[in-house]
Amino acid sequence: MRLDLPRLRERLGAVLFYGLQSVYELDSGMAADEPISERWEATQRIPYELLHDNLQKMAIVVPVREEKLKLLDGVFAGIPNACQIILVSNSSRSPIDRFELERDASNSFGVYTNRPVISVHQRDPQLAKAFAEAGYTEILDDEGLVRSGKAEGMLIGTMLARLSGRETIGFIDSDNYFPGAVLEYCHLFASGFAMARAKHYAMVRISWASKPKIVENNLYFAKWGRSSIITNRFMNQLVSSYTGFETEVIRTGNAGEHAMTLDLAMNMGHSSGYSIEPYQLVYLMEQFGGVEAPEAPDSTDVIRNTVNVYQVESRNPHLHEYKGEEHVERMIEASLSVIYHSPLCPDSLKEDIRRELSERRIRAADEELPQLRKYQPLAKADQQAFRAALEGHPAETALEFAL
Ligand code: GDP
Ligand code: CO
Repeated sequence: MRLDLPRLRERLGAVLFYGLQSVYELDSGMAADEPISERWEATQRIPYELLHDNLQKMAIVVPVREEKLKLLDGVFAGIPNACQIILVSNSSRSPIDRFELERDASNSFGVYTNRPVISVHQRDPQLAKAFAEAGYTEILDDEGLVRSGKAEGMLIGTMLARLSGRETIGFIDSDNYFPGAVLEYCHLFASGFAMARAKHYAMVRISWASKPKIVENNLYFAKWGRSSIITNRFMNQLVSSYTGFETEVIRTGNAGEHAMTLDLAMNMGHSSGYSIEPYQLVYLMEQFGGVEAPEAPDSTDVIRNTVNVYQVESRNPHLHEYKGEEHVERMIEASLSVIYHSPLCPDSLKEDIRRELSERRIRAADEELPQLRKYQPLAKADQQAFRAALEGHPAETALEFAL
């Protein structure tokens, strides 16, 4: 992999946001291939060996809810052999047990490729018990089971990744039509960690170069999703209001495809459902930007070490399932809500957000935005107790293999 050097950088306290980086070569050869004369600094090269070193440290979490099995199968195929796959499903179990079909697919994949795949169902009572024993009951609903939602699925994946002994964690949606894009995302995650100066606390977020759409019977490669444009604009305004300088540094407000070192993932607070990705940026600013007293268990260490946030533009087009207009609206509202309710958000920006939502007929201008459920960093949960409560569970057996 060969990437350009980030031109932009914005520092907010202990958080360093790097500007968008693009890919020059998807494959830049082995370490020994670099001629001395080529060692100049306009681009940075991540040779195979370094890429592989980083892939070996990575767990990839695939959240799934009622997606086509064919797509899920393609996503598995795209995840590099060195990575530990963790499937977290919230698909229905009756009248057809869709989870059973997914588990079948992931087990077969595991057998054919000789890789232990960890798979769990979000509403599994034993999993809920593990969270309860770990003292992390906030993730449970009235029935005593883990709440539905993508964010909640990602929290499960994060806990399991921590127990698997891997050092980094990446998230890849299961509704991706291009296995080649999945492979690229994993390589981009690994490249980001290879570049990271702050080894303990780094995040890599993917922005896709294009999203193919059919417009008037032709293929049209849109640059930005509608939700992304809006989220990024307001996120940049939040950064600007903090630094006093207008900026466009944030390009990945809604990045479903992103990765973190587990040390960082365990110290991140989370917002529920689809607001989880934009909230990560808000949380970093709030907690480690030097404004508020941080709550994360390892915050002193985080602040001492700096958090590096990389944003990389993938070469492959991003094609996923179309989930309808309402889905996009809910996504916009959830994203803006976490900016709106941040203590860092000035009143003028709040007003802009309300105006934006009312112009889009998502919410009346005089209506308050909903406060979304927040979760504390998982570092507060007792990992040993969590692990012990999973005893005998198929996921636990897979974890044994993974270690
Ligand atoms: P978008 O791509 O961000 O517009 O949102 P999607 O609806 O495609 O969701 C992203 C990923 O999360 C997909 O792989 C979904 O199958 C998955 N997903 C959605 N809701 C849930 C959930 O409640 N639990 C889990 N585990 N995964 C979910
Ligand atoms: Co999707």
